[in-house]
Amino acid sequence: MTITFTTETAVRRPAAERAALMESPAFGEVFTDHMISIDWERDRGWHNARLHPYGPLVLDPSAQVFHYGQEVFEGMKAYRRRDGTVVTFRPYANAARLNRSCARMAMPPLPGETFVEALELLVGADRDWVPDRPGHSLYLRPFMIATQPTIGFYGPSSAYRFMVIASPAASYFTAGSTPLTVWLSQDYTRAAPGGTGEAKCGGNYAGTLVAQAQGKEMGCDQVVWLDSAERRWVDEMGTSNLFFVYGDRLVTPELSGTLLAGVTRDSVLTLAAELGHRAEEGRISVEQWRADAEAGALTEVFSCGTSSMITSIGFVRSADGDWTIGGGTPGPVTERLCAELAGIQDGSRPDPFGWVHKI
Ligand code: COI
Repeated sequence: MTITFTTETAVRRPAAERAALMESPAFGEVFTDHMISIDWERDRGWHNARLHPYGPLVLDPSAQVFHYGQEVFEGMKAYRRRDGTVVTFRPYANAARLNRSCARMAMPPLPGETFVEALELLVGADRDWVPDRPGHSLYLRPFMIATQPTIGFYGPSSAYRFMVIASPAASYFTAGSTPLTVWLSQDYTRAAPGGTGEAKCGGNYAGTLVAQAQGKEMGCDQVVWLDSAERRWVDEMGTSNLFFVYGDRLVTPELSGTLLAGVTRDSVLTLAAELGHRAEEGRISVEQWRADAEAGALTEVFSCGTSSMITSIGFVRSADGDWTIGGGTPGPVTERLCAELAGIQDGSRPDPFGWVHKI
């Protein structure tokens, strides 16, 4: 079934106001003039697809999302290239992941073409909001919520709304290229086998806030999650996946079902192999992380995700002691991968993988 969008044009913010808002935006604080909404009902499927002015929602207070948390989201970016063209990165990979999250959360899938068309319409309408500064981008947040008005918990909602909003973004971590200090969460875990760890759903993030606060108190930027059964195997970081660099060999925690299958993670695996590294999925224990870092065999660790891109990790803090990786400075593998990936996105390097999608 083809889903046709209607368009309601917003009163656009004046150019000077937009320029001021885009000067150095804090992540996720400022939004563009338009948004996308599409409704789903059990008897009608997807309908009422529209591009319309950005603004507050009117929802029944009993809407299921408020009570039972049926919600999924994605994170992606649009980039303005030096020649003025605007591109997104692997949008069909995000569409596929959204649908895997939907399957886990008993929500209806959205056709991949509709997902991509929604992004194209929104970015096309708010093209002036795509920053042209190096490292800046337009962050896109597709998400889906359960809207059936009932607090009865009888089963999945019979109604949903898919939306996309957009927000100009500078780099996610304000510390710039200073390596992050991470807190190893040993009191709390993020996901258990058979749970929702692999889905990109809001609840996975809400449940981590208390550990994130604990990490902040310990002077750390982010939390690293361990597996919930043994509290020994590294899963992922608060907002991204992790890579461990042993000279020219890279290892990232395997997709065990409890961590997010990051699109950037997948891109780094492919890119690293193309650059001549051995790039593998495997298991890394905390003991190994510490021992290998202290012995100098583990030369670099970095995190990767859409919002935070590729970010070096220099220091680990835990209840059992602290350690440093690679002297606490960003390593050459991390820097090269970051430059290569950013180059594919901004057009300064070729895209042999066909990842870039022009708007
Ligand atoms: C992203 O990297 O796009 C995410 O969804 C992480 C979010 C916590 C900002």
